[in-house]
Amino acid sequence: MQQITEYIAQNKERFINELIELLKIPSVSADPAFTHDVLHTAEAVKTALEQAGCDTVEIHDTEGFPIVYGEKTIDPKLPTILVYGHYDVQPADPINLWNSPPFDPVVKATEDHPEGAIFARGSCDDKGQMYMHVKALEFMVKTDQLPCNVKFMIEGEEEVGSKNLATYVAANKEKLANDIILISDTGIIANDVPSITTGLRGLSYVEVEVTGPNRDVHSGLYGGAIANPINILAKMIAALHDENNHVTIPGFYDKVEELSAEERAEMAKAPFSLEAYQKTLDIESVFGEKGYTTNERNAIRPTLDVNGIWGGYIGEGAKTVIASKAYAKISMRLVPHQDWEEITTLFTDYFFSLAPKGVRVKVTPHHGGQGYVTPIDHLSYKAAAKAYETTFGKKPIPQRSGGSIPIVSLFEKELNSKSMLMGFGLDSDAIHSPNEHFGVWNFLKGIETIPYFYQYFTEMSR
Ligand code: BES
Ligand code: MN
Ligand code: MN
Repeated sequence: MQQITEYIAQNKERFINELIELLKIPSVSADPAFTHDVLHTAEAVKTALEQAGCDTVEIHDTEGFPIVYGEKTIDPKLPTILVYGHYDVQPADPINLWNSPPFDPVVKATEDHPEGAIFARGSCDDKGQMYMHVKALEFMVKTDQLPCNVKFMIEGEEEVGSKNLATYVAANKEKLANDIILISDTGIIANDVPSITTGLRGLSYVEVEVTGPNRDVHSGLYGGAIANPINILAKMIAALHDENNHVTIPGFYDKVEELSAEERAEMAKAPFSLEAYQKTLDIESVFGEKGYTTNERNAIRPTLDVNGIWGGYIGEGAKTVIASKAYAKISMRLVPHQDWEEITTLFTDYFFSLAPKGVRVKVTPHHGGQGYVTPIDHLSYKAAAKAYETTFGKKPIPQRSGGSIPIVSLFEKELNSKSMLMGFGLDSDAIHSPNEHFGVWNFLKGIETIPYFYQYFTEMSR
């Protein structure tokens, strides 16, 4: 890829400013108050793809937020890369914990990003990473070095489960036909330790409701004599793990892929400092399933976590009351071979069985998806590894991630395509948290690395 570093050096201010403009639009897909902004973001992505050199760009309406589709075909005989990303973002709250407004981007240095990082919701997840692909395309088109065909599919509902994208993909298999799907929505171990994500966990997300009396009642008059839904919910949640922090749902581990001792030893070679890990989170110790290391617990083992819990009086002062209802939101991260719908059923049955007489329980499944693994002997892994090696000067380490992108396994099922996860974020970039940011170095390194993937993938496909 001739002139890539020069091109980046000459255009980096513009690249950063364009990304900042995109980050100013609050495309929060979960909150209907932002509907207009989400739609506006789709338009902005369309314009960006047109300006970068796509031949056609279309906005496809869905029952939810639109999908932006673009393509540039140079020769049908050459391979086709399908770039997937998302322009929607997580809600910014709690707003008061942000050091600068979430949709008013600022560039500031951090310990991990001494050359500066862009602070804004969506900077790393995923507008910044998606935009690297737009700028990489711009470079290849402008310098006449695009080596293959490319399609873009950028959705606006990843953070809420990609339901309408699933329908769109199933209905447009021919249009979306490709040789590889390329995604930047994950991370690397560190800027001097490049890595490639070879696995994603699956997910089952449920909401539970425990109902006691038909109204909130006086905690003196009724306390001790009836089941308090909050007490009961707390007990039921506590019963979901045993003393070794294994999940107690019967059958939960039945289909879990057990890694061989060799594979675990290989994983353990990735550089990791438990001390630094604890320090950045300000915790005295890690905690988790007995028999597994921290990196195993957050990548190759399934987990169950309460994401939210509420009920009763939470206002100022004290109110002596037993609430009628208690609620919790629970996520289960799953590993290869666990089926998310089956796990949702196992959870539901077990959760009902934990309820004593005197309360009623409701379980509402939200969304979910299967896990995903890319084999490292796949052509796309080899091309990506060579691309990282070219621009980072170091061979990347294959690493499974604990996060989920449920649509990836659906791509494999519907389009029969593998996905290559070329991420450039860091775990410390605070995605989904206050003060999310994306390193300027990482943003530019992504733009630099992506064209090499195009080149090597095309060469290796011959
Ligand atoms: N980009 C993330 C997933 C991710 C981040 C994977 C870092 C690996 C490393 C994605 O936007 C996300 O947040 N996914 C959700 C699932 C979705 C159904 C809401 C998740 O993992 O919680
Ligand atoms: Mn994402
Ligand atoms: Mn996300």
